[in-house]
Amino acid sequence: MSLLNNYFLNKISILFIFQILFIFSFTKCDIKVYDLSGDWKLTNNNNVTLTAKLPGSVQMSLYYSQIIENPIWRFGDTDTRWIAFQNWVYSRSLTLDSDFINNQKIVLEFDGIDTIAQITINQVNVTMTSNQFRLWRIDVTDFLHVGDNEMTITFFSPTDYVNEQAASYPYLVPGDTDSVINYYHGEKNRQFIRKAQCHFGWDWGPCLLPIGIHRSLQLISYQNLLINKTQINQYRKTQTTYEIEAKINLMQITTGSVTLTLDQFTQKKEFDSKQEIEIKLEVESPELWWPNGYGSQKLYELEIKVESGEETQEITKKIGFRHIELVEEPVSNSSGLSFYFRINDVPIFAKGSNFIPLDSFEGVVTKEVYDNFFESAIAANWNMMRVWGGGVYETDYFYDKCDEKGIMIMQDFMFACSMYPRNAGFLTEISGEIEDQIYRLSHHASIIVWSGNNENEAALSWWDPIIENPRLYVVDYSKLYLDTMRPIVFKLDPNRTFLSSSPSNGVLSSDPYVLRWGNPQNESYGDVHFYDYTMDCLDVSNYPSPRFASEFGFQSVDSIYSWQQCSVSEDWDIYSPLFEHRQHHPLGTFEMLGQIEMHFPFSYSNASQFESFIYLSQVTQAICMQTETEHYRRLKSSPHKTYGTLYWQASNDWVAPSWSSLEHFGRWKILHYFAANFYSSVIVSPYESAPDELSVYVVSDLLVPIQNDRFSLELWSWNGSLLYSDSLSYSVQPLDSILVYKRPISSILSAVSQTLTRQDCFLHFSARNSSNLFFLSSFYNVTLTPKIHFS
Ligand SMILES: *[C@@H]1O[C@H](CO)[C@@H](O)[C@H](O)[C@H]1NC(C)=O
Ligand SMILES: *[C@@H]1O[C@H](CO)[C@@H](O)[C@H](O)[C@H]1NC(C)=O
Ligand SMILES: *[C@@H]1O[C@H](CO)[C@@H](O)[C@H](O)[C@H]1NC(C)=O
Ligand SMILES: *[C@@H]1O[C@H](CO)[C@@H](O)[C@H](O)[C@H]1NC(C)=O
Ligand SMILES: *[C@@H]1O[C@H](CO)[C@@H](O)[C@H](O)[C@H]1NC(C)=O
Ligand SMILES: *[C@@H]1O[C@H](CO)[C@@H](O)[C@H](O)[C@H]1NC(C)=O
Ligand SMILES: *[C@@H]1O[C@H](CO)[C@@H](O)[C@H](O)[C@H]1NC(C)=O
Ligand SMILES: *[C@@H]1O[C@H](CO)[C@@H](O)[C@H](O)[C@H]1NC(C)=O
Ligand SMILES: *[C@@H]1O[C@H](CO)[C@@H](O)[C@H](O)[C@H]1NC(C)=O
Ligand SMILES: *[C@@H]1O[C@H](CO)[C@@H](O)[C@H](O)[C@H]1NC(C)=O
Repeated sequence: MSLLNNYFLNKISILFIFQILFIFSFTKCDIKVYDLSGDWKLTNNNNVTLTAKLPGSVQMSLYYSQIIENPIWRFGDTDTRWIAFQNWVYSRSLTLDSDFINNQKIVLEFDGIDTIAQITINQVNVTMTSNQFRLWRIDVTDFLHVGDNEMTITFFSPTDYVNEQAASYPYLVPGDTDSVINYYHGEKNRQFIRKAQCHFGWDWGPCLLPIGIHRSLQLISYQNLLINKTQINQYRKTQTTYEIEAKINLMQITTGSVTLTLDQFTQKKEFDSKQEIEIKLEVESPELWWPNGYGSQKLYELEIKVESGEETQEITKKIGFRHIELVEEPVSNSSGLSFYFRINDVPIFAKGSNFIPLDSFEGVVTKEVYDNFFESAIAANWNMMRVWGGGVYETDYFYDKCDEKGIMIMQDFMFACSMYPRNAGFLTEISGEIEDQIYRLSHHASIIVWSGNNENEAALSWWDPIIENPRLYVVDYSKLYLDTMRPIVFKLDPNRTFLSSSPSNGVLSSDPYVLRWGNPQNESYGDVHFYDYTMDCLDVSNYPSPRFASEFGFQSVDSIYSWQQCSVSEDWDIYSPLFEHRQHHPLGTFEMLGQIEMHFPFSYSNASQFESFIYLSQVTQAICMQTETEHYRRLKSSPHKTYGTLYWQASNDWVAPSWSSLEHFGRWKILHYFAANFYSSVIVSPYESAPDELSVYVVSDLLVPIQNDRFSLELWSWNGSLLYSDSLSYSVQPLDSILVYKRPISSILSAVSQTLTRQDCFLHFSARNSSNLFFLSSFYNVTLTPKIHFS
């Protein structure tokens, strides 16, 4: 069978058309698709030639053809590095029939080509691509003919490319230093290419530098009418009326009509000689879309039909109606401004994590892998994620799942932890990328805010060359994010907020647009990222009291089952070359050990303790994160008005020490089980608010009050006997956090006996459906028979 297939319907019998007409409203369309996915010849014109699938990457194709080991097996990241230093040529022939060629126009479409590539058709240079994040639509009408055609895609070494760019740039653009690159076993100068920045190595991830095509690739031929892209804004116009503003961008200037339909609401508009048509549709009292935990996720099908003469094209987009506000206003008894999201008039306490790519190679991430990920996210009661700026703008399937599951998205643009060039070519590339991605993503209900980059504003104080000449780099920063990126976002997507960076302090004035410069980590404004690995993580006084904690975390180590999938037994030791190779965070292993040793009677001497170390690293991470997250949740109704907890990080893109709550192959770390608990709608949360002072809060994310419920406290001996219990009635207003119990710990102990010590017992609390524990002493010293012992 020919790969050539009809997109919709064409040149088929009248009778058949008649039947189909009845089923579909679109017919008579000369749009044809030639899918370019499948087998290609791949060679480096040197020592490797094979048959490889596209979409796909050079690395995984070499692995599937058994030319290399799996890149995530043991030292695969460095063993396969030579691949990134070569050029790779994909080629194939394509046989096109006259129906395909006789259409007016043919476009070559790539939804993701990674990265620097030259495309030829029949030995003629067609174009160059230089940005992984662009949607390429290339007119190739003049290059193709009926019969056999030859197509090649030559990928140039990304490492050679960035090094050449850096060398020819007129001055230093600070980014990862040599010592950081050394820890990551990474490659330098990533800021000079529009390619996932974590491909060059990160403190949790490998440098694997995928080369290839990661999303769809096809040729489309059409007569006069082809929708190129659409953009859908949606906002609340009156209390019950929502307005949809659609932009329909056509491949060429056309005359005709466009119709928007959503349930019984419909709007038709004629247009004359236009390439982009704007049309609005009012929808009365739609059922709303809610974040997970606050209501259901109603999604509607919006049908967009364009007609021109005999030609018709129809597409649908799934949209959800919700009113988003980022509330930044004065808070009583507190300096600075609040920072929280109000969705459909309800303040939403954000609970969730930061998303990094699930794998270096997108092709490995099947729908099943995503489904499994989202099941885990929902099981842990997440309602928000931040798609982090060092990865990729995720796949359509990812955002569809966020829409369906009610996971709100803070979407970073793909810039992270670096300064960036600002020459004309680079800014043009970025402008195209921002526009492409806003068109592609704007209809998703789940995306609630854009952010310019990850930590680049904070990074203005990181490196000596910047400190020596701050004006140069502040001007560069403004040029890129404030003067180039921001106006595009404002123009295309006026109903979503744009934040300059995460973290940032918001704006001093929106017109004129002036940032509230200063330390972007200011707890009184915007979001903050907070890390400290050497303090006692169970001592709450060590944590900040921010408006919104968009990053915080502790490392732990994947279970032995995951190590078994990528390494051999000689690697299972914290002092093994492989473990040291995969610990990219300087001193990370000793910080984990330090945190473990503060709380458990454990010290690492040799490989026989590797599994105990893994277990304790996960337990420690879980109790640290519970302590920190509950602290932020308790502050919800305080003058700090903390309203967000997105912990670092959701998943792991290989098996290595990292901050994730999910392991690379999808297993849950202990933290993920804890998150399911500390993120439930109602929690009872005890802590020691001053020496000997026990304070217990009930925190509710419910929209209804809890009235005259009972709260109970039990004191248990480590030997298993119940020593004391107490209970009292309490009520909590909707969305509130209140102190329900306060008492000296010594008075609870002395109520049992004068000799009882904090080492002998622990507290258990329950309220509503929530329960919690509070340990009165370090596990190090508790009175246990037999004595606790980790071999
Ligand atoms: C191919 O050649 C490169 C050096 O040019 C070398 O590093 C690599 O190991 C070779 N690979 C194979 C599969 O022969
Ligand atoms: C191929 O075409 C692109 C754009 O059309 C151009 O930038 C590039 O330099 C050309 N390459 C060669 C080798 O001619
Ligand atoms: C603000 O502080 C005053 C005086 O300390 C206190 O009476 C009031 O309850 C506080 N308000 C809030 C909202 O905390
Ligand atoms: C079609 O959309 C792509 C992706 O945004 C854009 O680069 C291109 O310029 C558009 N084509 C036309 C003809 O407008
Ligand atoms: C949404 O954007 C439109 C402009 O496209 C503006 O008129 C409207 O006031 C905005 N509404 C909200 C709720 O942001
Ligand atoms: C944070 O902002 C507050 C309020 O404007 C200000 O008083 C404080 O000095 C700032 N702190 C830092 C660390 O910049
Ligand atoms: C390894 O450590 C364990 C626990 O400390 C100890 O019992 C064992 O003797 C050690 N083995 C070696 C070979 O040093
Ligand atoms: C358990 O511990 C409590 C308090 O330390 C003590 O009173 C009790 O006798 C112990 N029970 C047993 C069975 O050892
Ligand atoms: C939670 O508690 C309420 C009130 O006590 C009860 O009606 C409900 O069934 C409980 N839900 C679960 C999941 O246990
Ligand atoms: C354990 O108890 C001893 C003696 O009371 C004390 O010196 C030590 O600091 C405690 N250790 C921890 C980790 O709490």
